[in-house]
Amino acid sequence: MENIDMNNLPKHIAIICDGNGRWAKKRLLPRTMGHRKGGFNIRDISRYANKLGIKCVTFFCFSTENWNRPQAEVDYLMTAPLRFIKRFKKSLIEGTTSIKLIGRKDRLSEEFLNTFKELEDATKDHTGCRINICVDYGSYEEITHAVKIIAEDYKNNKISLDDITPQLIENNLYTKDNPPLDLLIRTSGEKRISNFLLWQLGYAELYFTDTLWPDFDNKELDKAIIDYQHRERRFGGLKDENK
Ligand code: IPE
Ligand code: MG
Repeated sequence: MENIDMNNLPKHIAIICDGNGRWAKKRLLPRTMGHRKGGFNIRDISRYANKLGIKCVTFFCFSTENWNRPQAEVDYLMTAPLRFIKRFKKSLIEGTTSIKLIGRKDRLSEEFLNTFKELEDATKDHTGCRINICVDYGSYEEITHAVKIIAEDYKNNKISLDDITPQLIENNLYTKDNPPLDLLIRTSGEKRISNFLLWQLGYAELYFTDTLWPDFDNKELDKAIIDYQHRERRFGGLKDENK
């Protein structure tokens, strides 16, 4: 924390939480134990980000493609968060972060949706860090969903062609209320985006680390933020000295 410039914090960090399975395998544990540790880590990193004063963190937990995994693993990933929320509900409600579930809603169980809905409602007025939990999330689906809403409005003469702007598209994404994405972190050595926040990544800085998600601790987040703070963000413009 000492080396972080508190005046230049990323407002919105997204994290592809990858490497749970490998973390477990290294310890000769079932993959689900990696997911369990990864779940605790989402809590820990959320707390730390909130303490630092980061406004928003978006965690990629389960993609629209992860349904293709073995049924037992899918079952674990769809039920563990419910047990987890039950256990930490009180501290989440008494805390300052707000929680939001992001992604498709039509393939999740009623229990899953209700559990998150309750937590969303109970934390919606919290002014600390917004924590987005992406489950059954995929960017292709998110953008398609936005296009359908816009097409419907066009069809019903609520908007004209000229109203269709990048801002309008953005306003129909699941992340519409969040600050622009500043930093994407992917753990576990993979250097891919994997259909995550394709639109929002437009001018984000990318940070890849070999550290597996369950091992990604506060110091690792410090490192990513410090790396981000050394980047020169020009957004397509020029550095002042070259103007
Ligand atoms: C990330 O860890 C968690 C999910 C995608 C649900 P992985 O399960 O992808 O772990 P590895 O990549 O097999 O190590
Ligand atoms: Mg993986």
